[in-house]
Amino acid sequence: MPLQSSVESSSVVGHHSGGAGPLQEFLDTPGVTDVLVNAPGYAWIDTGTGLEQRPVALPTAGSVRELAVFLAASGGRRLDDASPMVDARLPGGVRLHAVLPPVADGCTVISLRVVRGGSHSLEDMETMGTVAPAIGVALRSLVKARASVVISGATGSGKTTLVSALLSCVSPQERMVIIEEAGELEPRHPHVVRLVERRPNIEGAGAVSLATLVRESLRMRPDRIVLGECRGVEIADVLTAANTGHRGGMVTLHANSIHEVPARVVALCALAGMSERAAVLQTSAGFQAVAHMERTAHGRVVSEVGIFSVDADRLRVDSALRVTRDGVEEGPAWHRWRESVEQAS
Ligand SMILES: Nc1ncnc2c1ncn2[C@@H]1O[C@H](COP(=O)(O)OP(=O)(O)OP(=O)(O)O)[C@@H](O)[C@H]1O
Ligand SMILES: [Mg+2]
Repeated sequence: MPLQSSVESSSVVGHHSGGAGPLQEFLDTPGVTDVLVNAPGYAWIDTGTGLEQRPVALPTAGSVRELAVFLAASGGRRLDDASPMVDARLPGGVRLHAVLPPVADGCTVISLRVVRGGSHSLEDMETMGTVAPAIGVALRSLVKARASVVISGATGSGKTTLVSALLSCVSPQERMVIIEEAGELEPRHPHVVRLVERRPNIEGAGAVSLATLVRESLRMRPDRIVLGECRGVEIADVLTAANTGHRGGMVTLHANSIHEVPARVVALCALAGMSERAAVLQTSAGFQAVAHMERTAHGRVVSEVGIFSVDADRLRVDSALRVTRDGVEEGPAWHRWRESVEQAS
C-alpha cells in the first residue's frame, strides 16, 4: 500500500504516485524487507536473500536529504540540523530511520523497514515454514501458561514479527500494554494499548523513555506487558514488572543464540546499575523461556526454544527444542520444559 501523506509533496516525491517517491516501487515489491539509501543514484534492497543494488532516481545528495525530510514529516517527526536523526513509523507499516550529514558522512542515510509480516498469525508462520509444528506447540503452551518470554535473534531476524504472532494467540479477555520505540507490533487482538517512546525536543525537554513507559504501564491494569525491544536501562523496569506479579510479558533482545541471552541480559542490567547477582536472580525468577529467531538460507525460522536456569550463580538458557536439518530435536531441558511450561498451560 503506498504511503499516504498529509504533508505537502516535495519535488522528489511529487513526480511519483506513491508516498515514498522513487523508493515506493521497492516497498511495493513482494518479498522486499529493507530499502536502504546511503548515496545518490542507487538503493540497496533486501529481498530476503541478501542485499542487491538498484538504480534509483535520487540523483544528488540534496534529493536524498529532501526525501528523508519529507518521509520524517509524513511520520509526524522532524528531521533538520537541530535534530539530525529520526526513527518513525510511516503510514502503511513502514519504519523509517534517517540520519542527516554531517552526522552521516557525505549523504543522508535512509533505512526503511517494511513490516508487512507484522500481522501474521502463528498458523501463517507455520504455513510459511518459519515455525515447525513441534515448535508451534511449544510456543502456544508458553502463551497459554502465561510464561514470560524473551524473543532473541540477530538484527532483522524476525523477532518483532514473531512477537506479533505470539500476541495474536493471547486470549481476547486479556488486556495487553505494548511499549515500543516506533510502533511496529501489530497483533491481531481486540484489546491492545500502545505506548510509544518520545524523544526529547530540540531544547532537550519532553522525553518519555521506554523505562518510564514500562513503569506507567503497571498502573494501567495490564494482563501482559510487552516491550518491543529491550536495548538499555529499561530492562530493570521490565524485570521489576516480571517479579511483581506481571506474568506473560514478552520482550525482544538482540542475541546471536539462546546461549548468548544471559550475557546480554547481565550487560543490560549493568547499564541499569544492577549487580550480576541481582540480574541473575531477577531474570531467572521473572522470565521463564527464550524463543530464538534465525535467518537461514531457507528463510527465517524459530530455531530454538529454551528455559532459564541458574547454575553456580550464573544465568543459563538450556535448550528444550532445537531445529536441525533432520527435524526438531529435544534438548537437555525438554523434560523440565514439559514440567514447568506444558503442565502450567
Ligand atoms: N517469518 C518471516 N518470513 C518472511 N519475512 C519475515 C518473517 N519474519 C519477518 N519477516 C520480515 O523481515 C523483516 C524483519 O522482521 P522484524 O522486523 O520482525 O525483525 P526484527 O528481528 O524485529 O528486526 P530488528 O532487529 O530490526 O528489530 C520485516 O520486513 C518482516 O516483514
Ligand atoms: Mg524488531
